[in-house]
Amino acid sequence: MSLVIRDLSVRRGDLAVIDRLDLEIAPGEFVALTGPSGCGKSTLLNAIAGLVPLAGGAIEAERGSLGCVFQRPMLLPWRTVLDNAAFGLECRGASVDDARSRARTFLEKVGLGRFTGYFPNELSEGMKQRLTVARAFLVEPRLVLMDEPFSSLDETARRELQDLVLDLWAKSKCTVLFVSHYLEELVYLADRVIVLGPRPTTVVKTVPVQLRRPRGIGNEGMLGLMESVQRCR
Ligand SMILES: Nc1ncnc2c1ncn2[C@@H]1O[C@H](COP(=O)(O)OP(=O)(O)OP(=O)(O)O)[C@@H](O)[C@H]1O
Ligand SMILES: [Mg+2]
Repeated sequence: MSLVIRDLSVRRGDLAVIDRLDLEIAPGEFVALTGPSGCGKSTLLNAIAGLVPLAGGAIEAERGSLGCVFQRPMLLPWRTVLDNAAFGLECRGASVDDARSRARTFLEKVGLGRFTGYFPNELSEGMKQRLTVARAFLVEPRLVLMDEPFSSLDETARRELQDLVLDLWAKSKCTVLFVSHYLEELVYLADRVIVLGPRPTTVVKTVPVQLRRPRGIGNEGMLGLMESVQRCR
């Protein structure tokens, strides 16, 4: 197993946010997570990333790099596109030259090759998220956590980035945990959709998505699965 969460409870102050949650994710699986606003989805991702303490239970993750993409791009405004992409590699001990050279090749592959000298404030919102996705996958992660990464983008940019994530995931064979409120996005991307209940949250339903890839937006299988996710939200 790539990620095993057993009997997990998390509190924020005097608030019980996660209550005895169990979840197992296989290596290379793409799992989408949804649930009511404020139920604890971001808290769960933060707990997996080791950013919040556990009140009970355990999280076992496969060793290796972790990639994260959040709702807002979180780029370093004083660094160029190239140096933002290279940042994760530098943090893991790569020399500046090596990190830049690998980042340059990767940025070419994800369609940002022309913009390596730009600064974040010179990019569109879609390009900023494209860069954060590139930065997350560039470190060859074993696990990528994505928290509503495309929710502020228009539909065209969202679709392009969904396809980019699917492409990078298929090539890297890493495990992805992706939070979203969009039914279509959940079913388009994931091998399995996990529905969480209201706070204090736990898993209320798992919907396997056994549709062949590539999937067509709006095909009948997808619509049926979107209904079954919707019914238990
Ligand atoms: N740093 C914090 N300090 C105190 N409470 C927090 C903190 N972060 C989150 N919480 C509380 O934890 C609960 C769950 O928040 P969380 O952000 O995990 O929800 P969510 O499911 O991601 O919601 P959304 O769909 O709106 O993003 C909320 O009641 C929130 O107030
Ligand atoms: Mg959240």
